[in-house]
Amino acid sequence: MSRIWLSSPHMGENEKKFVEEAFSTNWVAPLGPNVDFFEKQLSEYVGVKAAVSLNSGTAALHLALSLLDVNKGDLVLCQSFTFAASAFPIIYCGAEPVFIDSETDTWNIDPQLLEKAIEDQLQKGKKIAAIIVVHLYGMPAKMNELLSISEKYRIPIIEDAAEALGSSYNNKACGSFGKAGILSFNGNKIITTSGGGALLSNDENLIAKTRHVSAQAKDPAPYYLHTQIGYNYRLSNICAGIGRGQMEVLPQRIEKRRAIFEQYKIGFSGVEGISFLEEPNGFFSNRWLTTIVFDEKYFKLGTIETLRQYLETLNIETRPLWKPLHQQPVFSDCKSYNNGISDKLFDTGLCLPSGSNLSESVIENVINEIKKHLGI
Ligand SMILES: Cc1ncc(COP(=O)(O)O)c(C=O)c1O
Repeated sequence: MSRIWLSSPHMGENEKKFVEEAFSTNWVAPLGPNVDFFEKQLSEYVGVKAAVSLNSGTAALHLALSLLDVNKGDLVLCQSFTFAASAFPIIYCGAEPVFIDSETDTWNIDPQLLEKAIEDQLQKGKKIAAIIVVHLYGMPAKMNELLSISEKYRIPIIEDAAEALGSSYNNKACGSFGKAGILSFNGNKIITTSGGGALLSNDENLIAKTRHVSAQAKDPAPYYLHTQIGYNYRLSNICAGIGRGQMEVLPQRIEKRRAIFEQYKIGFSGVEGISFLEEPNGFFSNRWLTTIVFDEKYFKLGTIETLRQYLETLNIETRPLWKPLHQQPVFSDCKSYNNGISDKLFDTGLCLPSGSNLSESVIENVINEIKKHLGI
């Protein structure tokens, strides 16, 4: 039986054509027409002044932090319930991450706890250089509350929209709210360039600096002249060709992922102790991954691991929700502000196969196997 992946690449019609064009015109380089076109598609779609395509979402976060002047010894407040790549670049900058727990409506950074952490750290005389907000699994964070806090304390927000291309909050796209937003086009994302990312911003100065330092910070001169540290972070014109084709099918990909979410929800409707993350009013999720949560009142602690193992024997890939960063050994020395919410989600939740290339009958089979295993 072929493997049912959580989220695998799903090509459209034209990706190959744009890649072949790059070959036939010899634009096999970290710049070229596909890069320009892809960046235009992205900025228009998200509704920001500009997008710079880069070779990963992690690189985009690194540049965002570094260009917003995050330096050695600064604090960066970061959502705890996320993938480690949201926080690794804080360390690259020599800064210190402080992890903030989630609220229950969206599973993203809790604005109240964030404000408490800011007050607490300011009182201790610390400099907070940035806030990293994540739109996890495609669900937008509570941006109104978060933007008010950002303005009140004059701390810039960087939006980690790696999982949220196509999601929006009050009809405004995720990735367009913060001083900078980042996207990922890793192979498991809603669209992919095989690997890649982008930095989004309305700040033209920040965009210009991103273009400069992401291409080795070469100053204008007949020889190689550098007055600052650069990075080799640009996306190739080959990969951008894939992205260009993928952008054409993004609306269909979102529609399909949302339909998969609905199918799971309907499949388990009426089952006590099983819940799905609902969209609050004004929140639109691309439903990158459908997640299922088991209430411990009805299911044993450990249910998700035995279920995951059972599905694995059937070649069905599932995965526990993100292990919060405040629980990660690599960050054990870091400060965190917790409320138990992300710990509980990690203990009781599972990501289900959600790829837009999965048929209704495959999802039906996953639902039936879960029910069979749980005896429902
Ligand atoms: C929330 C989040 N942030 C950052 C990243 C990093 O993106 P990339 O893999 O493109 O470096 C990912 C995905 O991999 C992610 O899921």
